Parts: sequence; C-alpha cells; structure tokens
Amino acid sequence: MTNKRIVLSSDHAAIETRQTIAAHIEAKGWEVVDIGPTTPESTHYPIHGQAAAQHVASGDCRFGIILCGTGQGIMMAANKVQGIRCGVCSDTFSASMIRAHNDANMLSMGVRVLGEGLMLDIVDAFLSAEFEGGRHATRVDMIEA
Ligand code: RB5
Repeated sequence: MTNKRIVLSSDHAAIETRQTIAAHIEAKGWEVVDIGPTTPESTHYPIHGQAAAQHVASGDCRFGIILCGTGQGIMMAANKVQGIRCGVCSDTFSASMIRAHNDANMLSMGVRVLGEGLMLDIVDAFLSAEFEGGRHATRVDMIEA
C-alpha cells in the first residue's frame, strides 16, 4: 500500500483519546494527519466528520478514524461524503469485517462507549484487514451507485 496516511478527527468529547490513537498508529508506521479540534470547547461533530471524510474522498489519506461520544453522529456526517464508507465499531470482529466485506475507508468509535484499550485493538483490527473483493466488490459497487 503506497498511501500510509490516516486522517484523524473528533468532536470535543474525544480529544485526548484521539491523541492516544495517533501515537499508537504512528508507532506502527502510519503517517497521521490530525485535523483537530485541539481545544475542549464544545463543537459540532458534523463539521469534523465531513472534514475528515474529504481527506479520504480526495485521496489525500488512505483511511480515516473519527471519534465522538457515541461514534454515531460523526459517522453519519462522514457517510454523506461521496465515496466514504464509514462504520461504527465497538468490537474487533466488526472492525475486520467492515474492511474485508464492505471495503470501509473510515472507522468511527464512541469514546463514551469504549475504553481506550479496546479502541486500540479495534483500530488494529481495522488496519490489518484486507478487502476480499469478489462478490463483496459487487455489493460495494451497489452502495456507491
Ligand atoms: C456530544 O455531546 C455528543 O452528542 C457527540 O459526541 C456524539 O455522541 C454524537 O453522536
């Protein structure tokens, strides 16, 4: 894989966890594009979900990882951007399967749902799985259409 860039973003609920994830994936050889926010004032997750998604949809970054309280709102915003397939994961099996079967290019998680240890395992599962193609490619093409 040539593009080793991952965009990270969140709302105010997840700033510290985002930094933990950034350090974790940098240690594994990924280049992190952290687009904030960096201060804890309340903000609006759709802004950050859309901004991260645009980095992936444009090809600037191979993957995106986004966080909010539940992971749900920021995922909904990201999925409004053409070409984005983002799933919320709370377990490692789902994180592998959204890559293997859905060719997900973004992962969302909820910092008020999960502990950091599990979140890092979910990130690892997402980044180590490969899209299987074949019949799954037909279905992904249907999503995109
Ligand atoms: C912010 O309070 C909260 O609504 C947000 O982080 C997220 O959980 C929304 O889906």
